[in-house]
Amino acid sequence: IRIDLIAAARPNFMKVAPLFHVLHGQPWCRLRLVHTGQHYDQNMSEAFFRDLKLPPPDLHLGVGSGSHAKQTADVMLAYEAACAADRPDLVVVVGDVNSTMACALVGAKLHITVAHLEAGLRSGDRRMPEEINRLVTDTLADILWTPSPDADEHLAAEGVPPEKITRVGNIMIDSYELMRERIDAGGERRRLGLENRAYAVVTLHRPSNVDAAGPLTALVDQLTRIAVRLPLVFPVHPRTHKNLQAFGLWPKLAEAPNLQVIEPLGYVDFMNLVCGACLTITDSGGIQEETTYLGIPCLTLRTTTERPITITEGTNRLVTAAELVPAVDEILAGRWPHGRKPQLWDGHTAARVAADIRRRLLSVPPRV
Ligand code: UD1
Repeated sequence: IRIDLIAAARPNFMKVAPLFHVLHGQPWCRLRLVHTGQHYDQNMSEAFFRDLKLPPPDLHLGVGSGSHAKQTADVMLAYEAACAADRPDLVVVVGDVNSTMACALVGAKLHITVAHLEAGLRSGDRRMPEEINRLVTDTLADILWTPSPDADEHLAAEGVPPEKITRVGNIMIDSYELMRERIDAGGERRRLGLENRAYAVVTLHRPSNVDAAGPLTALVDQLTRIAVRLPLVFPVHPRTHKNLQAFGLWPKLAEAPNLQVIEPLGYVDFMNLVCGACLTITDSGGIQEETTYLGIPCLTLRTTTERPITITEGTNRLVTAAELVPAVDEILAGRWPHGRKPQLWDGHTAARVAADIRRRLLSVPPRV
């Protein structure tokens, strides 16, 4: 079978890598790694390919930034041409970024089988661009690989026939387990002078937090207050960096004592920081999952999450800017649930996906 594996933006690379490594070299498939180019900065893209031992993509669509419509349309045009030139039998899309939806749409319209890895997640908030991407992608996909029971339930409630769904677990945990030794041996923590379990990692990039001056100002205020008692390290996403500059907040953040603002990091360096932290403050999706797996408290600056299992079983809690300081106090006082690892978050998700592809498309009994 000819399989296109679509990678586009930072959170995709960790989801594509374990699957690439499991499928690569299998006699029954021909793999084409497609990078849409949604993320293009060295430290938003290449650093991840290098860290995750991905080869350069077979095809780079070079799409870049733009409005949602433009970015989606550009990916569709470029990927449709790629399919016309060399038609795959299966398009595998991951996550919930604009390129995920765009390539799913192209595949579905060309009657190519579309599979979605990380299907069924729902925040219930349609103002999030990712929620629209999830809904459209899951409506179109022929094969839906889910990470958790709540995802299965959402798909069932939306009328997706059960035979299309296979619960495979969380692919992000595969990446972590693949890279674990290098992450543990990494020197990022030392390089930044951070002491084990005595600092927090911060990441922010959601439009609802960083695109308007009001919310971003409130967050900067709270972070500078927290830094007085707990050292913070904040790798700043390009979207956030631009807005901090535009709203005149950059100097306050950059000059705050005990708060290190740094460039976005590659996967290994970033996870080296997360693994040594006593807590994380984030609006990312993936970090909610990684901290649940690692048993590290996570404060998520959002009103909803599409990953509720990180709250019900894990170490995550949703907070507002105003709730940050008391929540940090609770964590530092040791009053935080330890949580447990959700079922099938075990590092073997890619193998289950490969087995499911064989079962569905080759009618060969899977070997897992
Ligand atoms: C995208 C995803 C989001 C994901 C995030 C992780 C969508 C709708 N959003 O958001 O789900 O959590 O990636 O990072 O797909 N930029 C650069 N260099 C880059 C990439 C982007 O400077 O390599 C700038 C662009 O100028 C752009 C802004 O950052 O204006 C946002 O990039 P974009 O890809 O549109 O969305 P993200 O906020 O990164």
